[in-house]
Amino acid sequence: MLNIRIEKTTAPKAKPAKGEKLGFGHIFTDHMFVMNYTEGKGWYDPRIVPYQNLSLSPASMVFHYGQEMFEGLKAYKGEDDKVYLFRPDMNAKRANQSNDRLCIPNIPEEDFVEAVRALVEVEQDWIPTDPGTSLYIRPFVIATDDFLGVAPSKNYLFLVIVSPSGAYYASGLAPVGIWIEDEYVRAVKGGMGFAKTGGNYAASLIAQVKAHDDGYSQVLWLDGVERKYIEEVGAMNIFFKIAGKVVTPMLNGSILPGVTRNSVLTLCRAWGYEVEERRISVDELVAAAKDGTLEEVFGTGTAAVVSPVGKLRYMNDVMQIGGGEIGELTQKLYDEITGIQWGKRPDPFGWRVEV
Ligand code: COI
Repeated sequence: MLNIRIEKTTAPKAKPAKGEKLGFGHIFTDHMFVMNYTEGKGWYDPRIVPYQNLSLSPASMVFHYGQEMFEGLKAYKGEDDKVYLFRPDMNAKRANQSNDRLCIPNIPEEDFVEAVRALVEVEQDWIPTDPGTSLYIRPFVIATDDFLGVAPSKNYLFLVIVSPSGAYYASGLAPVGIWIEDEYVRAVKGGMGFAKTGGNYAASLIAQVKAHDDGYSQVLWLDGVERKYIEEVGAMNIFFKIAGKVVTPMLNGSILPGVTRNSVLTLCRAWGYEVEERRISVDELVAAAKDGTLEEVFGTGTAAVVSPVGKLRYMNDVMQIGGGEIGELTQKLYDEITGIQWGKRPDPFGWRVEV
């Protein structure tokens, strides 16, 4: 159990006004959680301190070899005025899967959740309440040894910062266009694709710029070997409704095991849909779009929640989906998941955690 020292700011910042457009990840609050790690000593000095810049040596290993992991989850202010987290245990588990891959020491799951819970409690007045908004939580670990050799660091910082945020996409719930990338790849089996670490996202930028230049919001990655099978989108997992079935790429080591992905699979199965986690080739997708059986496409993620996709581009094919409207299942999933998160709907799976 963490014994967290709390040092409150003496200069609180102005909070965003009700109705103010928040965007995603631009605004930071008054406090942050910090904990140190040193080899032989373990994690120590958990504290919540005023939000501030870090002072690090330019030789800190995170700057050179990218030894870091991050997580993403959200806190919500319910209509009952209670504060909720959504499945934080899943983030704690995944953080350690990423840590293992990156040779970063594990954080006990209960300490990860307690750090998040304690910071959210201190910052609860920052949780926005306008529809579609929440307090985005970003836990992360960085390697802090000042050393230019390639080796696991012996010192780390675990930090949690929070950001009042609205929809991830500027377009909100309007369907987005996705570019299926045929030149670059994001990850390969045996690499770090399943881990949440900056390098995967750095690898994605070049294709994202290309996609943006062409008017698309995000990139859909194909597998790194055959460039044939669908993997995931830059900031979300991907789902298709093909001839009534819900289909998503199986977890194969190179895609992220999303918390929202898992929740959507659970809900779809509970609602009686036929659900398949399997390999999906881009050719199958193009064929389904052409013969009219590609009924819905949506992405899932903590930041993105459930986001409809209205257009897919692959080489010379541009596939329009759903006539620019959000699909029925996509809307139903969005309503159910946000309803559970905001405490408006029953929580049959016990996903909501009161802070
Ligand atoms: C999240 O959905 O929490 C993520 O970490 C994705 C990120 C690229 C915004």
